[in-house]
Amino acid sequence: MSNLRFGIIGVGTMGSVYAGLLREGKIAGAELGAVCDADTGRTDLWNSVAMYDRADLLINDSGVDVVIVATPHYDHVPLASAALDAGLHVVVDKPIAPTKRGAETLLQCDVQDGQIFAAMFNQRTDPRYIRLRDMIQSGELGRIQRINWIITDWFRSDAYYASGGWRATWKGEGGGVLLNQCPHQLDLWQWLFGMPARVRAFCGFGRYHNIEVEDDVTAYLEYADGGSGVFITTTGEAPGTNRLEIAADMGRVVVEGTTLQWIRNRTATAEWCKTTDKRFGAPETETTVETFENHGEQHAGILKNVVAAIRGEAELISPAIEGIHSVELANAMIYSGFQHETIDLPLDSNRYEEWIKSRIEASTR
Ligand SMILES: NC(=O)c1ccc[n+]([C@@H]2O[C@H](COP(=O)([O-])OP(=O)(O)OC[C@H]3O[C@@H](n4cnc5c(N)ncnc54)[C@H](O)[C@@H]3O)[C@@H](O)[C@H]2O)c1
Repeated sequence: MSNLRFGIIGVGTMGSVYAGLLREGKIAGAELGAVCDADTGRTDLWNSVAMYDRADLLINDSGVDVVIVATPHYDHVPLASAALDAGLHVVVDKPIAPTKRGAETLLQCDVQDGQIFAAMFNQRTDPRYIRLRDMIQSGELGRIQRINWIITDWFRSDAYYASGGWRATWKGEGGGVLLNQCPHQLDLWQWLFGMPARVRAFCGFGRYHNIEVEDDVTAYLEYADGGSGVFITTTGEAPGTNRLEIAADMGRVVVEGTTLQWIRNRTATAEWCKTTDKRFGAPETETTVETFENHGEQHAGILKNVVAAIRGEAELISPAIEGIHSVELANAMIYSGFQHETIDLPLDSNRYEEWIKSRIEASTR
């Protein structure tokens, strides 16, 4: 079977990683076929393959089988749509779009039988989260009462924000930490726990950096069954934390560092509460700690999975259609933080689109 040929649109920071994996033969059954960047200085680095300065040329003329879209976010929708319309398999980087309306537009594209449309949610390959998802989906953990995710290890300097004109503006990126760094955790959140019914967020816009978008967020998420969660993130704290803690009927789970710790209740909390005659105390517990050697195959794992899915040998780990949820959560948190109101989900994508247009018009950046 011949190798699938990949074309990459946008060979900046991330596109170069994908190009490197493919050129170095790290993705079995695949090879780098073409690269495209609006900045020709970027494509020159990959001069062993076809190079383009316009995406439409790569899509229509290069003969690649798969396109990876790794440009700034606003171009994800038009470029991924064009590649899908040309009948190519597509991997779009996160976020699939900066706004829910953009994601809806992208997901309206016709995708033919056998045509693969994936998103780069590489953290879905992390064995800690895969294990946690199994625990939730098998019912082992019981009803989830509370989720706490402190994900503040996304520190970024002023030099980072100065490194691309598109970064951290409403027009160039459509948001800050929630649209650039946190699509991973917001995707994992919905992948693990599903979508909440409403969101109330408190956002600092340019709290730590000279930027107009959010770089500090504390969000409260409420579920239809009464469960709740708190999501805390920033690019302004160092050192940061990445700690996911879940309180469920069958105990407490903490995912942090290389471990997943489960302090497991021998009796479900709700049952113990109703049946015990003790006034104090709590269910007996036993603790297990699972240690994982690494965080999985990440980007290479998603690309290998895309190859396998195209060959009909695997289900997609990260279908693009699921990418709308992390965009919706990010939009809802930003909107809530800006307007100081609780946002019921599903988010009204027209209302949000109007609002972000007004932010872009009011921007002086
Ligand atoms: N999955 C991940 O782990 C991960 C990590 C970082 C960034 N990303 C995503 O990758 C995307 C790019 O981020 P980055 O940090 O690599 O940005 P970057 O600025 O380093 O690179 C973007 C590149 O796209 C090129 N470009 C812009 N518009 C183009 C167009 N219309 N046609 C062709 N080329 C174009 C630019 O010249 C630049 O070289 C973002 O959407 C970001 O969210 C994903």
